[in-house]
Amino acid sequence: MAIREILKEGDEFLLKKCRPVEKFDEKLHILLDDMIETLHDADGVGLAAPQVGVLRRVCIVDIGDADGVIELINPVIVKSSGHQRTGEGCLSCPGKYGITDRPKKVTVRAFDRNGNPFEISGEDLKAKAFCHEIDHLDGILFLTKVIEFYEPEK
Ligand code: NI
Repeated sequence: MAIREILKEGDEFLLKKCRPVEKFDEKLHILLDDMIETLHDADGVGLAAPQVGVLRRVCIVDIGDADGVIELINPVIVKSSGHQRTGEGCLSCPGKYGITDRPKKVTVRAFDRNGNPFEISGEDLKAKAFCHEIDHLDGILFLTKVIEFYEPEK
């Protein structure tokens, strides 16, 4: 496993639409393992492949609960409900935080690293993280969805 460089705002890779994963092979597994190590090293709650320069529909979420790391390949939001207006940040946008309007609850359909389909639902922070990471796969940064920027408390 290896820690990969996280691309920062301004890098054109972050604005590109990613292509679906077609091969659930060793290369994908290495990417996922590296992304997990990179996410934990950066102390974040989610990371998408384009943030490490790979334009494929792969992202991971780990909000520190019992689910541990959730690996999402070719994820699609199939259900969403409610609203939450809460703070948000991104490992690619250091020092920037803002309030966004996200669904309170979402259900995501995706594949695991071996190509098996599954569905997972999340509320609150997990729902927000799913939405944020899946947006990355379409070249969308949370900055474009911020209602109001704020300075974090030190
Ligand atoms: Ni992000």
